[in-house]
Amino acid sequence: MSKWIEKDLKYIWHPYTQMKDCQKLLPILIDKAKGVKLYDDKGKFYYDTISSWWCNVHGHNHPKIKQAIKKQLNSFEHVLFAGFTHKPAIALAEKLIQLTPGNLRKVFFSDNGSTSVEVALKMSFQYWQGIGRKKRKKFVSLDYAYHGDTIGAMSVSGVDLFNAVFKPLFFQSFKVPSPYCYRCPMGKQRTNCNIDCVKPLENLLNNKSEEICAVILEPLVMAAGGMIIYPKEYLNKVRELTKKYGVHLILDEVATGFGRTGKMFACEHAGVKPDFMCLSKGITSGYMPLGATLTTEKIYRAFYADYEKKKTFYHGHTYTANPLACSAAIASLEVFKQENTLSGIRKIIPLLRSEFEKMRVLPYVGDVRTLGMIGAVELVKDKQKKKPFKFEERIGLKIYKEGLKRNILLRPLGNIIYLFLPLSIKKKEILYVLSNCYKVIEKVGKSTG
Ligand SMILES: Cc1ncc(COP(=O)(O)O)c(C=O)c1O
Repeated sequence: MSKWIEKDLKYIWHPYTQMKDCQKLLPILIDKAKGVKLYDDKGKFYYDTISSWWCNVHGHNHPKIKQAIKKQLNSFEHVLFAGFTHKPAIALAEKLIQLTPGNLRKVFFSDNGSTSVEVALKMSFQYWQGIGRKKRKKFVSLDYAYHGDTIGAMSVSGVDLFNAVFKPLFFQSFKVPSPYCYRCPMGKQRTNCNIDCVKPLENLLNNKSEEICAVILEPLVMAAGGMIIYPKEYLNKVRELTKKYGVHLILDEVATGFGRTGKMFACEHAGVKPDFMCLSKGITSGYMPLGATLTTEKIYRAFYADYEKKKTFYHGHTYTANPLACSAAIASLEVFKQENTLSGIRKIIPLLRSEFEKMRVLPYVGDVRTLGMIGAVELVKDKQKKKPFKFEERIGLKIYKEGLKRNILLRPLGNIIYLFLPLSIKKKEILYVLSNCYKVIEKVGKSTG
């Protein structure tokens, strides 16, 4: 064990990690990264197939983004964002408003995805309180949702494995079934359904809309809940219902934003315009931490008043709108234009899809789902009965270990093996990753079965 790893184990507590596992499966020390590859201290490389937790967009070590950060660093690194402002934040806010769909007109910056969600929840809540609709105190979310790890974000999330222990701390929210087609909550098939899974939400809004501030959703891809990819018609119906019953729609594009699904924002697939949009991760292409919550003029106006009226939004973080992060974000948006990133991926998305479809024949592959540069397979013990592997079987860990042997970083979500690829990946790299992913699943399947 190298002295660095010894010290890592001595001093560091890693996120989403059972530290006891690290005694046997040592953390990998990354020394450099370029494009879609990470290199460890011994020179071995790994394809970063999950974009370093879904944030890298244009590949690692991109000269333009690096240059933008360095340039800003030569001016100043940080400044408080109340009473003071700076050009990178102003320019970025203008670009985000131009880029996002609908009537989003104001940008509230923060520094991570969970916080961008907290901000949307708090703004929506304060909006209704402020306009005198005092009974509106609750939120509606999906039972497989994941919106982050702060208490508010967890209160509207549903992944029990992560959240169960904290439940006594949560504020009350309504949960409705997720549009999980492979395990349809209404017992239907996609071919014979009329998006019936939206009915529970419709009933809830019909009965309780006067208690509800907002519905919060991850548009089209419920990421950490299992890369559940759902029909755009569901999103359309939710927008119609939230309008009909006069509650806000918060779209959490933290994972799906910035090209992941083939469009800049996932909600564009459905032509849906939210009242709040939460952004982070890909906003800086993974170079610096940044969060942003966008909202409408109407909502902003409800807070705009004489100071004595106590309508101020009292929320802020020390690193709000960090200038280095804003500069990275602007550079990333420029790279989108200069490299024609979105039209580039349009050519490789069909390849990704067809390579994923090949996995359907494997004995333990129950479902294959893809959208844009995201793809997932759901492993099941029994294909007919869709019986999942048990938690204790740790199928994901086996896949992870086998992936590393083949130079691919796979970090399954339980039984869900997924790729969340940097948009800069080349065709031949996709072919390498997908064919090896196939072999990993085949091998682990054989040894498990
Ligand atoms: C949809 C979604 N929202 C929010 C978050 C939380 O973001 P962060 O980890 O930056 O707090 C995540 C993180 O995975 C996410 O996928």
